[in-house]
Amino acid sequence: MAEIKLIHHAKGAPGLRLFGLGPRMRPLKGMLKLKRLLDDHAFWAHGRSKKDLETILANSSVVVSLWKEDKMIGFGRATSDSIYRAVLWDIVVANEYQSKGLGSKIVNALLDSPCIKKVERVYLMTTHCSNFYLQMGFKVSTQQTLLIKEIEENN
Ligand SMILES: CC(C)(COP(=O)(O)OP(=O)(O)OC[C@H]1O[C@@H](n2cnc3c(N)ncnc32)[C@H](O)[C@@H]1OP(=O)(O)O)[C@@H](O)C(=O)NCCC(=O)NCCS
Repeated sequence: MAEIKLIHHAKGAPGLRLFGLGPRMRPLKGMLKLKRLLDDHAFWAHGRSKKDLETILANSSVVVSLWKEDKMIGFGRATSDSIYRAVLWDIVVANEYQSKGLGSKIVNALLDSPCIKKVERVYLMTTHCSNFYLQMGFKVSTQQTLLIKEIEENN
């Protein structure tokens, strides 16, 4: 079976964002592959444009992607102030590769990155996967309330 490679991208993922680089710095249309992965396996990120994905990568503190040969099979990113707070975003593993420890590998790679490993607290929002994060040491918050303000488009 082909090896599965985890890539720690540089801050803002310039190689992936600007040149579509995958493993061994090969140009593999990485942004199209990221779009396809999110469209197919991440219900909250379905239909995001390539341009918007480039912007969120540019503004992410940590980005990791998981590849099997030329195929992107997993992804995760985080924003962090490096001292107090970090938030994990867009953690996804393609269906056919789930339940093999790859989701945990992505989360651990994010948590171990220099700008996250010393923060006081890491936040994470999930709709259906709390059990996954509970078994990774996250706890359900009983003291805080999640508040959301929807910002209208073109305000
Ligand atoms: C959540 C996700 C990243 C986990 O990836 P994974 O590679 O399957 O995770 P691991 O193999 O490291 O861990 C699997 C364990 O996590 C738990 N788990 C995984 N997915 C779960 C889910 N959807 N609901 C509840 N528990 C889940 C189970 O305990 C599972 O163990 P099992 O396979 O023996 O039952 C993956 O299921 C996924 O991409 N789901 C779709 C996208 C998504 O909803 N992402 C979460 C955004 S917050």
